[in-house]
Amino acid sequence: MLTSPISAELARHYDLAPSVEKAAETQALYARTSRVISPPDWAVFAPYVAEINRLKKERNAVILAHNYMTPEIYHGVADFVGDSLQLAIKATEVEEDVIVQCGVHFMAETSKVLNPNKTVLIPDPAAGCSLAESITAEGVAQMRAKYPGAPVVSYVNTTAEVKAASDICCTSSNALQIVNAMDADTVIMTPDKYLAQNVANESPKNVVFWDGSCIVHELYTAEDLRAYRDHDPEVKIIAHPECTPDVVAEADFTGSTKGIIDWVHAHKPAKAMLVTECSMASNIADELPDVDFAKPCNMCPYMKKITLEKILWSLHTMSHEVTVDPAVADGARQAVERMIDLSRRLQG
Ligand code: 13P
Ligand code: SF4
Repeated sequence: MLTSPISAELARHYDLAPSVEKAAETQALYARTSRVISPPDWAVFAPYVAEINRLKKERNAVILAHNYMTPEIYHGVADFVGDSLQLAIKATEVEEDVIVQCGVHFMAETSKVLNPNKTVLIPDPAAGCSLAESITAEGVAQMRAKYPGAPVVSYVNTTAEVKAASDICCTSSNALQIVNAMDADTVIMTPDKYLAQNVANESPKNVVFWDGSCIVHELYTAEDLRAYRDHDPEVKIIAHPECTPDVVAEADFTGSTKGIIDWVHAHKPAKAMLVTECSMASNIADELPDVDFAKPCNMCPYMKKITLEKILWSLHTMSHEVTVDPAVADGARQAVERMIDLSRRLQG
């Protein structure tokens, strides 16, 4: 943590040396994650946690964090944690002047699109996403030309330009309902081919899709999961719908990151394997002491660009501000708001 180029400058303003005293002062936060963070490691994190939480108040800022953030972020400094849909909905309700988005760039862009008058910061602008990078607005136009009249449902894991070129967005928690609600037999889904195939397997619609994928979830194979189950028949396998259909077919449950967390809370299996990003199991380990989380997991290199040090830097310097061209933002907002409205209506 102390080798980053920004650490010397931060050290001029804050006392960030590992501290047993600051660890004791932040004990209530540590108690939420003591199963996965050792006391010496918390003594390293605690000075950052304390300064971030102090600076957050000074700047009238709120930290919205995705479920893939590391435990010291998720439990130490986040004001709200959730999946993409929860974060998008929360972004419409924020009262503070500043949103620090602890997640990847498309999530920060979505917050800005929904809150054009607020300052939205991302601690590392290079926190991208293989799905968001796989398609442009030109790609959406190509799909429209290929399937005239078919509505375009774009995953929120896209840039604002792609959202603006789409009819409506979806997330992993509402993709099937949104596609089924489209008033057409053929529906275009972008950019995740596996999410689209998983939706197609459960939908009466003819789902056609772009050739994008998540570099984290596509690494899992059905063969690996079968090997785990052969080794330990008791293990419950819980997958994210960005995994391949073969992997989803092997799973006991498939859902968004919120859906996964809710399922493990509801079922409390003796042994669970979360077929998703590594921090998911770490973040819920303390809430579920009787669940043994099977490894391995795969790490998202983009999500892991967000660190406590960069969050402190972000609040200290009020960087990196996320901006979206107002005309693009208007189009993207329509697609996201249509999704939020439809999702609410469908849930009753
Ligand atoms: P969720 O909406 O399920 O949190 O997924 C976001 C994501 O990027 C998963 O890889
Ligand atoms: Fe994108 Fe996959 Fe990382 Fe999620 S896990 S942010 S979909 S690369």
